[in-house]
Parts: sequence; C-alpha cells; structure tokens
Amino acid sequence: MRLLVTGGAGFIGSNFVHQTVRERPEVQVTVLDALTYAGDEASLAPVADAVTLVQGDVADAELVDRLVADADVVVHFAAESHNDNSLTDPWPFVQTNVVGTYTLLEAVRRHGVRFHHISTDEVYGDLELDDPAKFTPETPYNPSSPYSSTKAASDLLVRAWVRSFGVQATISNCSNNYGPYQHVEKFIPRQITNVVDGVRPKLYGTGENVRDWIHVEDHNSAVWTIIERGRIGETYLIGADGEQNNKAVVELILELTGQPRDAYDLVSDRPGHDLRYAIDSSRLRTELGWEPRYPSFRDGLAATIEWYRANEAWWRPQKDATEAAYAKLGR
Ligand code: NAD
Ligand code: TYD
Repeated sequence: MRLLVTGGAGFIGSNFVHQTVRERPEVQVTVLDALTYAGDEASLAPVADAVTLVQGDVADAELVDRLVADADVVVHFAAESHNDNSLTDPWPFVQTNVVGTYTLLEAVRRHGVRFHHISTDEVYGDLELDDPAKFTPETPYNPSSPYSSTKAASDLLVRAWVRSFGVQATISNCSNNYGPYQHVEKFIPRQITNVVDGVRPKLYGTGENVRDWIHVEDHNSAVWTIIERGRIGETYLIGADGEQNNKAVVELILELTGQPRDAYDLVSDRPGHDLRYAIDSSRLRTELGWEPRYPSFRDGLAATIEWYRANEAWWRPQKDATEAAYAKLGR
C-alpha cells in the first residue's frame, strides 16, 4: 500500500507514521507537511529512513494532485489545530482546514483514491457537566470556535463529496489526545514543561472544564481499524472513556512530579470555552471490534511526563515563544 499522510510531522500524524512503520513495514509512507510552527521534521527522525517527507501545503492543488496520483490511500491529519490560536487569527484555519481539505477531496475524486479524514469531537459543541449524554454520530453539529467550525466545515465537505461524487471516504471524530511529540502550546505538555521549568501550571477559569482523554496510540490504532474495515461514507467517533476535569489533570501532573497538588494558578478563561466533551465510541467498538490498548490515564500520563523529561531537546526550542504568546493573552 502506498500511503500519503498529510500533517505527518505534527503530533498525531507523526505518532501515526511511527506506529505504521513499526507495525506495517509493507506500507510505503509519504508525508506531506507544510512544517508550520506545529510541524517538526525532528518528530520523524526515528523513522526518517523509512519515510519520504515532502514539505508543502495541502492547499497547493498542483502538488497535491501529483502526490495523490501516486497513492492508494490518503490519511488527512494536516490542520491548524489550536483553539487559542484560532481566536487570535482565524484565517489560517479557514485556509488549511477548509480550502486544504477541499483541495485534497478534488484530487482523490480525480484519481479514485481512498480517503480518511481526521476530525475532532469539537464539531459537536459542548455538553453540560451533569448531562448523562455523550456525543454520538447522530449529535447535531454545533461548533463553538473558529477551529472547531472549520473542522466541521471540512467534515461536511467530505460527506458531500462522498454523496455527490462517490468519493471513497471515511471520517473519524476523536476526543483530546495526549502522548509524545505534542506541541507545548497544548494543555498537558504546557503544564508538564512548566513544572520542569519550575513554573506553576495554569488553569483556565476555574479548571472545571472536562475533556475526554485518549492516548495518541489508541487514536491511531482506531484510524488503522477504520482504514482497513470502515464502511465508506461512515463517521466513527473515537474515544476511550477518559473524562477528567482540567483541575484533576493538573493535580495528577503535580502529584506525579512530586509537587504539592495545589501548586497551580487559575488564569483568565478562554472566550467561548467549551465546558465538556464526552465520546460514545460504541459504533467503532461493536461494528469494527476496536478497543483501546493503552493502560490507565494515570499510567499514560506518567509515561508522557517521562517522555518530556527525556526529550527536552525536542520541545525546548518552542517553549519561550509559546509562553510569550500566552503572556500577551494574560494566560
Ligand atoms: P498539530 O498542530 O500537532 O499538527 C498539524 C500538522 O499539520 C503540523 O505538522 C503542520 O505543519 C501541518 N500543517 C498545518 N497546515 C498545513 C498545510 N496547510 N499543509 C500541510 N501541512 C500543514 O495537530 P494534531 O494535534 O496532530 O492534530 C492532527 C489532526 O487531528 C487535526 O486534523 C486535528 O483537527 C485532529 N484532532 C486532534 C486532536 C488533538 O487532541 N490534538 C483531537 C481530535 C482530532
Ligand atoms: P487544549 O489542549 O487547548 O485542547 P482543546 O481546547 O482542544 O480541548 O486545552 C485542553 C483544556 O485545557 C481546555 O479545557 C483548555 C484548558 N487549558 C488550560 O486550562 N490551561 C492551559 O494552559 C491550556 C493550554 C489549556
């Protein structure tokens, strides 16, 4: 199989490439990545000999056409991915997430190539803290931020290209990922690296917002399950029953790093901050037989802390600029 992975130098994409090279040596992997601030060639260093990296934009129609023509399957991770950035400047989100996905869809349509679109549970908006409901594939789209609205737009483009043009595509909407190679702008790596730097973790608002955490390895094993066994045109929700409020996550990071559990600061809240996400992944589990393999959140978080401790050279170059951008927002 010739596999084109967009965004393969980012957090989830690079972990996907590592898992693919490790578990499916017969797959030929090409990565298309613009190497934005969020993409890092170093994230692919351990598999560099097994992968072809093309630096380029998913909205570059000529380049995309050439690469898609040589692929059997495209997995589309590339995106602008951070909510806080989307509130400061939404335009790159529209360009990459909407125009980029459109560009890929037109290319897979021309060449009859199988397409898997990576998306987020944030397209569904948020849930009340005490709501017994979780997101299902039938939950109406109700995105809150420029990030989630552009992801929602990209999902709807995929659905329309399946229905109108017979494109062979599937979609997955996953909950919050954690694990190695995640940019230090994101919640868990930001707090781990703050603790390493002797800085107190920062919780938005009151810290009561809930996210449904899944280890990136489990997200990526689910993506492979869908590529191999998913029904064309179908949407699969990926989650591992990992609901935690942000305060509990910070307390666990502090405990696992030997700090007092209350050594954090509350900072100003994110505008429009979604309260709670929760995924019902039963379609993926019952129809396709997928199960998360990764151990408990506590064990996964401990391993992630160890990874950031051991790989300071990977994240250190991004840390100061990231914190300077947050300082401007008062967060
Ligand atoms: P990331 O920001 O770490 O990586 C994004 C990658 O895309 C980077 O390597 C970047 O260089 C590349 N990229 C950005 N714009 C590009 C462009 N125009 N052309 C080519 N490459 C470009 O993001 P991530 O957290 O790895 O997320 C990957 C995908 O998973 C996204 O589609 C995101 O919406 C989705 N997702 C993320 C999470 C999460 O918790 N991080 C959860 C569910 C879904
Ligand atoms: P984030 O990693 O940005 O993911 P998302 O917004 O896609 O869920 O944030 C996860 C949660 O953590 C979210 O509720 C916002 C919160 N948060 C903090 O409390 N402090 C921080 O420094 C950051 C970056 C996020």
